[in-house]
Amino acid sequence: MQHKNIILIGFMGTGKSAVGKRLASECGMVYTDIDHQITEYENKSIPDIFSLFGEDYFRKVETKVLTDALQNKNQVIATGGGAVLSPHNVQLMMRNGLVIHLKADETTIFERVKSDSARPLLQGDAKEMISKLLAKREGMYDFASQSIETDHRTVDEIVEYITTFISEKK
Ligand code: S3P
Repeated sequence: MQHKNIILIGFMGTGKSAVGKRLASECGMVYTDIDHQITEYENKSIPDIFSLFGEDYFRKVETKVLTDALQNKNQVIATGGGAVLSPHNVQLMMRNGLVIHLKADETTIFERVKSDSARPLLQGDAKEMISKLLAKREGMYDFASQSIETDHRTVDEIVEYITTFISEKK
């Protein structure tokens, strides 16, 4: 039987990729990473797409790749933190999967992303950028069926939390 997609949303550094990979293997589902698909589709890194073509272009590709991915089922999909900015993407995700929100506080996010140069929106003063973006995106992840604090949980604990939530929903 083909299962409904599980779609992970959340701010940068909340663990969507690490959790997504483990959850997919635990549930025997396919792991789909939207950021990775974008880089394959464009044959460029995310920082290069931003610097060469700008954020608006990146968002268009993100919607295209997300739309294509959601044609399939039985996947755990890790989205980019900004996928929720488009109301169209939000509708798509709600129609095509069970949406789970991974959360973390500002300090945790900063600690997780500070040495990573692959996030163009956090270049410069990352602490300040995180704070500004979190404020700007306040409430935008709230459409998820379930929200999980990831700060003091291991990947395994988060995966267990999600699988329990899913089995209780059935
Ligand atoms: C972005 C998050 C990134 C990536 C891009 C933009 C955002 O993904 O899609 O750098 O706007 O929050 P991660 O959430 O996987 O870091």
